[in-house]
Amino acid sequence: MVRHFLDLSDFTTDQLRALLDAGSAIKARRRTPAADADKSLGGKVVAMIFDQPSLRTRASFEVGIHELGGTPMFVTGREIQLGERESVADTARVFSRYVDGIMIRMLDHEQLREFAEYATVPVINGLTKTSHPCQVMADIMTFEEHRGPLHKRKIAWTGDTNNVLTSWVHAAGRFDFDLHIATPEELQPPAHLLNWARENGAKLTLTRRPEEAAEGADCVITDCWVSMGDTEGNRHNLLRPYQVDEALMKRADKRAVFMHCLPASRGEEVTDEVMDGAQSVVYDEAENRLHAQKAILAWCFGQVQA
Ligand code: CP
Ligand code: NVA
Repeated sequence: MVRHFLDLSDFTTDQLRALLDAGSAIKARRRTPAADADKSLGGKVVAMIFDQPSLRTRASFEVGIHELGGTPMFVTGREIQLGERESVADTARVFSRYVDGIMIRMLDHEQLREFAEYATVPVINGLTKTSHPCQVMADIMTFEEHRGPLHKRKIAWTGDTNNVLTSWVHAAGRFDFDLHIATPEELQPPAHLLNWARENGAKLTLTRRPEEAAEGADCVITDCWVSMGDTEGNRHNLLRPYQVDEALMKRADKRAVFMHCLPASRGEEVTDEVMDGAQSVVYDEAENRLHAQKAILAWCFGQVQA
């Protein structure tokens, strides 16, 4: 069976843990002679299709594929006019005849699933409107490097319900931690996600009050107020009270870390003081995309067992 990486919810706890462990081991070997053992993509070409902008995902996948001995091929959505010049299914079928794997960023999650259904090579979700699983693998790796096991910890999310939060909810269904989510009522997680969380034993607490979510938390997370594909609407007004500032961080545990997938709109969802403060681990998160994704790539090609 082709190994796709589309959503954390497609994986078991043990599989995700094996991927995280593999990512940490690959990170430890980087730039040492032992890194030769990780050249598991020797001779393989991996397409990176971007229908939306990116800095971290593009750079981390391109460098990661290269360091694993493979060749990245960067393609923009504009060039192939994804879903317009030809069907999503035909695009997937044709790409699969040329390359050994495909990382793709596109907004429509159903189309991503369709793409993967017709691809005959591994497909990795590099962000859709619905989820961002590679990001949350890097986030968990970062949290655990700074604060130890995620088990039984309190993780606080404040702001919008978006792709990154959805992948955090999926993670909460697989790892035993408490996820406290503060959103305005208008932007709260949809019923189907809450149902999934219930059915999968995720421990979620929803609130309207960021201070409540942050109280004693081991980690405070936020993200931009207007994600790719969103229209502004009333978002800035609704989300202003959900900003992470120093006062909110003071509610959290003294050793709490602040996380943000980036790009950040400083002065909106987070203040400069928090972004640049001692508790911020946002650049470690960005770096860990590289290591976490190398494990995912190696797994897709059968080089990591999970
Ligand atoms: N965090 C993240 O995915 O960043 P980019 O949109 O720059 O890839
Ligand atoms: N929620 C953000 C994440 C960017 C990496 C967006 O979708 O734009």
